[in-house]
Amino acid sequence: MSTRPRVRLAIAATLIVVLLAGAGVTLWVTVFQPNAAVLAGASIGGPFTLTDSAGKTVTDRDFRGKFMLVYFGYTFCPDVCPTTLNQVAVALDKLGAKADRIQPLFVTVDPRRDTPEAMRQYTAAFTPRLLGLTGTPEQIAVVAKAYRVYYAEHRTGPGPLDYTMDHSSILYLMSPDGTFVAPIRADEDGAAMAADIGKLVD
Ligand code: NI
Repeated sequence: MSTRPRVRLAIAATLIVVLLAGAGVTLWVTVFQPNAAVLAGASIGGPFTLTDSAGKTVTDRDFRGKFMLVYFGYTFCPDVCPTTLNQVAVALDKLGAKADRIQPLFVTVDPRRDTPEAMRQYTAAFTPRLLGLTGTPEQIAVVAKAYRVYYAEHRTGPGPLDYTMDHSSILYLMSPDGTFVAPIRADEDGAAMAADIGKLVD
């Protein structure tokens, strides 16, 4: 048997793997880690009505006068959310007085499990500055769309609560008038985050 077909097959397989990897990286960059160039000039943010961790109805207008640092995730998140929120807490400590100009917000993409009380307990574990926001599935859909956030349920079993949430992981810095300032990388350590945020907050 000639080895030629095998060589051709190997080349074809390699090409397919390279193409798939390329597509995967592109998807990851555009969906999960949009960078400044991708988001610059995009219209990010907008009106929302949600419920804070005390059970009170809040809107985007309640945060005017402060920079909002907005992150989307969920309390059952096994790794990315707690890691990011830990670094946000470190960054806020490092920012000193500037942190008083910032309201960090954690918006759930899993309103079914993330009640106001669940959000209160979860956010308190990172920093008392962090405010958790939840809402109806429709309200979450509205705010996620405004911030161009991707999220989707990922089934892990047959039970109603057997799921995780896929979600984009990026911090949004919004100005005191509610407009988009810049994306802040969520995969950096707290010191790097503080440096990025500190340049943008006066
Ligand atoms: Ni997460």
